Amino acid sequence: MLSPQEMRKLIPFMDTVHYLDNASVVPSSTRVWAAMEEYGQKYPLNYGVGEFPASVEAAAKVNEARAKLAKFINAKAPEEICFTKNTTEAINMVAYGGPWEARDEIILTTVEHQSNIMPWLRLVQDRGVVVKFAQATKEGFVKPDAIRALVTPKTKLINVTYVSNIFGTITPVEEIGAIAREAGAFYMVDSAQAGGRLTMDVQKSGCDFMSICGRKSMMGPQGTGALYIKKELTPMLKPLDIGSRAGRLVDEKTMVLNEAPYKFEAGVLNTAGMIGLGVAVDTLAEIGTDNIQKRIAELTQYMIDGLLAIPEVELYGTHDAQKLAGVISWNVRGHSCSEIASRLGKEANVCVASGAQGALLAIRPLGVNGVVRSSVHYFTSKEDIDALLAGLKKILA
Ligand SMILES: Cc1ncc(COP(=O)(O)O)c(C=O)c1O
Repeated sequence: MLSPQEMRKLIPFMDTVHYLDNASVVPSSTRVWAAMEEYGQKYPLNYGVGEFPASVEAAAKVNEARAKLAKFINAKAPEEICFTKNTTEAINMVAYGGPWEARDEIILTTVEHQSNIMPWLRLVQDRGVVVKFAQATKEGFVKPDAIRALVTPKTKLINVTYVSNIFGTITPVEEIGAIAREAGAFYMVDSAQAGGRLTMDVQKSGCDFMSICGRKSMMGPQGTGALYIKKELTPMLKPLDIGSRAGRLVDEKTMVLNEAPYKFEAGVLNTAGMIGLGVAVDTLAEIGTDNIQKRIAELTQYMIDGLLAIPEVELYGTHDAQKLAGVISWNVRGHSCSEIASRLGKEANVCVASGAQGALLAIRPLGVNGVVRSSVHYFTSKEDIDALLAGLKKILA
């Protein structure tokens, strides 16, 4: 198993800064870059079209990556994984392609990222669906009862984030999956913030769709993501884009679509990125998500305790890191979040995020327009957190 220190050595960027913005993006390891370089040197081709060996090799590597990701999330078959350019695209694929019609009710939560709200609001305008929001608690927890209270015979989809990108709270995805099953509704989980931090098990959670982000804690390349679609549902979902590879033209009036996953992967995708994502998955599997989760909880508690000792800091959400997945949000009284993030960057070489983080409904109950968000990963060191705390104290001195 790779220790946190060994993992850190695989990400040279970590030698240059104190990086606490892992909820935005996590730089890929040298293993990922090496795999993409190998692709660039040995088989830098489209996959699945050429018959010559290098092209066949590229196709084999993409298929391998698909199979690895499928195994990692406990999908039943690689065909249940469609590669996408990001999480947003994966969510739009379900919103556009699903059987959502006028007066169908879609339950979301107030801690969704706007990428998991806006595609559904468009359906309110375009198709007359009804979107309902289950209110999270003040600490950012999605309670199954809040979902249950919104269920009616018209509920068609329950769609929840696995981890809040503001509070870091972990949604009880299995319990909510049971509610969806009882209601006869489809069930979707946005795992953008959970991937690489928590176990992703599509069978246990009982989800029909799961959106996956490559570039965050999965440690894959930017511009990569995936959508898990339960096999039985792939014929039902219409592809967002169609064209070459998604199917073929038969004559002036007729076209046929391929089977999943190809029907959802029109045009040429990011071949190097998909291969890189497969290698990132290998590394996560080697460390083990249980180990990652344990280490993240320890570091998060250390960060919470340190921040709580600074009287000017207002920390949002729970102070119990066991209930979190490595992400916390806070503000410093008398200072804007952007001032704090910018000064920490310039004066202490500490990287944190600031702003609304695309989660307006989540931060609104806090009575602020933005937060400072600090987030850790397996390879984060206590020194990174000490640098944050020392930097803050210096700014406040
Ligand atoms: C919970 C959540 N969902 C969706 C997204 C959108 O992700 P992407 O940029 O991969 O489309 C984010 C990004 O921050 C997120 O945190």
